[in-house]
Amino acid sequence: MTEWLKTAVFYEIYPQSFKDSDGDGIGDVQGIIEKLDYIKELGCNAIWMNPCYDSPFMDAGYDVRDYKKVAARYGTMEDMKQLFEEVHTRGMHILLDLVPGHTSEEHPWFIESGKNEPNEYSDRYIWTDSWFKRAEGLAYIAGERERNGAYIINFFKCQPALNYGFLNPQEKWQKPIDHSACLATREALIDIMCYWLEEGCDGFRVDMADSLVKNDDEIKSGTCKVWSDMFEQVSERYPDAVFVSEWNNPESAIGRAGFQMDFFLDWYGNGYNLLMRDYDDTGRDNSFFKKDSTRSIQDFLKEYLPKYEAVKEKGMYCLITGNHDMVRAAYRLEESELKLAFAFLLTMPGAPFIYYGDEIGMRYRVLPSKEGGYTRTGSRTPMQWNNGLNLGFSEADQSSLYLPTDDAKDAPTVEKQQKRADSLYHTVRQILDIRSKQDAFTRHDNLEIVSVEEGKRSFAYRRDDLIILCNPSCRTETLEIDVRKSHVIYTLGSLEEGEGSCKLGAQSFVICKAV
Ligand code: NOJ
Repeated sequence: MTEWLKTAVFYEIYPQSFKDSDGDGIGDVQGIIEKLDYIKELGCNAIWMNPCYDSPFMDAGYDVRDYKKVAARYGTMEDMKQLFEEVHTRGMHILLDLVPGHTSEEHPWFIESGKNEPNEYSDRYIWTDSWFKRAEGLAYIAGERERNGAYIINFFKCQPALNYGFLNPQEKWQKPIDHSACLATREALIDIMCYWLEEGCDGFRVDMADSLVKNDDEIKSGTCKVWSDMFEQVSERYPDAVFVSEWNNPESAIGRAGFQMDFFLDWYGNGYNLLMRDYDDTGRDNSFFKKDSTRSIQDFLKEYLPKYEAVKEKGMYCLITGNHDMVRAAYRLEESELKLAFAFLLTMPGAPFIYYGDEIGMRYRVLPSKEGGYTRTGSRTPMQWNNGLNLGFSEADQSSLYLPTDDAKDAPTVEKQQKRADSLYHTVRQILDIRSKQDAFTRHDNLEIVSVEEGKRSFAYRRDDLIILCNPSCRTETLEIDVRKSHVIYTLGSLEEGEGSCKLGAQSFVICKAV
C-alpha cells in the first residue's frame, strides 16, 4: 500500500461551494488554496476534489467536455498547479475526480462519433448499428445525431457511455473488451491519468468505477480486467499513484481490479445507511446513532466485516461522513449524535473521508435542483465559514451565489464552532489528533470486535493496544469488559470502570490504551 495512505484522513471538497476567492458567487481553486491551512488544522492531510474540468455542468461537472482543461469558473491550469504545490508543501496529498465511464455529450469525441461518416471516434462510444435497434438492458438514446444508430448512456441523458466493450458480445455492434476500439478508449483514459499525475496530483477518486464493461458478470470480471491492465501501465510511470473507487464492492475493486481503496456507499437499507440515515417520510428514524433508536451495531457489522476481512491485507474499505450524493448526516442527527457517529467513523480502519462542512454539522435543506443535483442539491450548499456576508463564502451579491447559504439564525459556522469548546468541530479535531498519534491507527488490518451483546446498543472494538467503547443510546449501559489495565486517553460522556465490567454513560465514547 502506498505509504502515505496508512495515515491519510481525507477531506472532500465540492469546488463550487467551498470558497469563492474572486467574488463571482462560485467557489474556485484559489479559494481552496486559501483554506488549506484550515483543512490541515482540522487534522486532514489529504483532499478529494470533485470534478474541476471543463464541462457544460449538466451533472455538476461529471459530464466532462475536456479532461485536460480546467473549468474557467474554477480557474486555470496554473491555479491547479499552484494548488498541487501548496498541498504538497504542507505535507498533504490530493486526489482529483476521474470520470472514466462517460463524457459530456458536448465532448469533441462524442460529436465526431455521432457523425455519419466513419472516423477515428466512431467506436469511442457504444452505438447500435441501426436507429431502431434497441440496446437490451441498457439505457439508450436515438434521434439526436446524424449517424444511423442508437447510443448507450451511462447515467443522465447528457452522459454517453465510453466504449470499453462487452463481456460476452451477442451482437455485431457489441465489441469484445480487447477490440482495438476498446483498447483505444483505454489508451485515451491512461493518457488523461498520466497527464494529471504529471502535473502533480497524487491520484484519483474514480467515478462509477464498476461501470466500464457492459453486460459484465456479477463479480465484474470484465471491468476488473480493464482496470488491472490500465493500472499496470500507469503504475510503471507513476508507482505511487493512488486510486479509490466508487464501487462498494471491495472484493472486486480492491481484490480483483487493483484499487487501493473502495468506499462503503450509502445505498438505501444497507449497513452504512442504517448508521445515520435510516428514516423515511413518516417521521420514523431508527438510525443506529439516534439516541433513542432500537438498532444494534450488528446491522452494520454483518455487512461490513466480511468485506473488510476479505480485503484488509490488500487495501482499505473506507468509511465516509457523507458525500455530495447523499443527504447530510445533520439532517436528522443532533450534534451529540453526530459526535458519536463521527468519532466511530474516524477510529475505524481505512482512510476516513470527511465531506466539507460535516465537521461543523452543516445541515441539509430541500432545494430546487441545480446542475443535475436533484435531491442531492441540499447537501451542496456554500461552506459556512463565519457570520459575515454570505457566511464568509463569497463577497458576491446574494442573488448570484451558486446556491443559497443557510439563512437560519442558528446555522453552524466554523467561527461559532471553533469558539465553543464542546462543539462537533472540536470533537472531530480531538479524535483526529489522537488518530495521528497512535500507531494502532496506522495499521488497517487490526480491527477486532470485542463486545456486542444481545439487547445492548453499546459495543467495543480493539485496534491493537487500543480499546474503543461506544454507547450511542440515551441510557447508561454495562459492558462485560474489564478496562482497568488500560488508561483512558479520550472520553466523551462517562466511563465507570469495575471488576470484569464497565459502565458507559449515555452517549459516551471512550478510547483506552493498554499499559
Ligand atoms: C457518481 C457521482 O458521485 C455523481 O455525483 C454523478 O452524478 C454520477 N456518478 C455520474 O457521474
